[in-house]
Amino acid sequence: MPADLSKPVTVPGFIQAKRDGRKLTMLTAYEYLWASLFDEAGVDALLVGDTLGMVVQGKSTTLPVTLDEMIYHGEIVARAVKRALVVVDLPFLTFQVSPQQAVENAGRVLKETQASAVKLEGGRNQANTIERLSEADIPVMAHVGLKPQSVRKLGRMAIVQRDEEQLLADARAAQEAGAFAVVLELVPQQIAKHITEEISIPTIGIGAGPHCDGQVLVSHDMLGLTPGFHPKFLKRYAEIRDVARGAVEQYIDEVQNGHFPDAAHSHD
Ligand code: KIV
Repeated sequence: MPADLSKPVTVPGFIQAKRDGRKLTMLTAYEYLWASLFDEAGVDALLVGDTLGMVVQGKSTTLPVTLDEMIYHGEIVARAVKRALVVVDLPFLTFQVSPQQAVENAGRVLKETQASAVKLEGGRNQANTIERLSEADIPVMAHVGLKPQSVRKLGRMAIVQRDEEQLLADARAAQEAGAFAVVLELVPQQIAKHITEEISIPTIGIGAGPHCDGQVLVSHDMLGLTPGFHPKFLKRYAEIRDVARGAVEQYIDEVQNGHFPDAAHSHD
């Protein structure tokens, strides 16, 4: 069944998509113009991801991102959007301290942006927190598999997560605690398939193969804005960086050679 592009996507609608067998699409967004373009194109959900730290701020990990920065970008993205479900990531150390800290910070996200939900990294280890957030009527998308906020413990950014028992237990715990969806990051496709069959909330894959209920990609990566980033799971649907660079080089050349501004672009 195709998506109904005339109605805003809600949390119950997101869950219903799995029951209807309709694949969900999600992209990250951090700013107004891109968010409105992705929404117009018909993407189901926009994630204001803490990848903000890397693709927007140029940092090497997501760890330095603050809650205020997420709220700033979350408000911009939610204001740009007419249909897509907007989900804002809770950055490192804004929910891990205690469930109460998580409720206060996620509550700020919902109060200060028009976003519908938060995402947090964790499964079994965050079950209490997901439960408290759900009790406070704050919809939660969980995130299991590779958890980029664990980069210091892991020692590197990207390791495929292969422990099926642990992954399934994390996804189940997230569901039982009240999460409405779960991101599976860097998980072998057969394990992602099994988890998707075993739980009733949508699985949203990134580097988790074709069997998830939906997919998410970092928009800067799929648009070809991030130089030299070619992990196996990533399909670059465009090379916008090359197009933009060509335009800027042409502009520099034309100004330096006196070809711009020409008569057509000058007032009499
Ligand atoms: O922060 C982010 O952009 C994410 C995606 C990679 C799922 O968590």
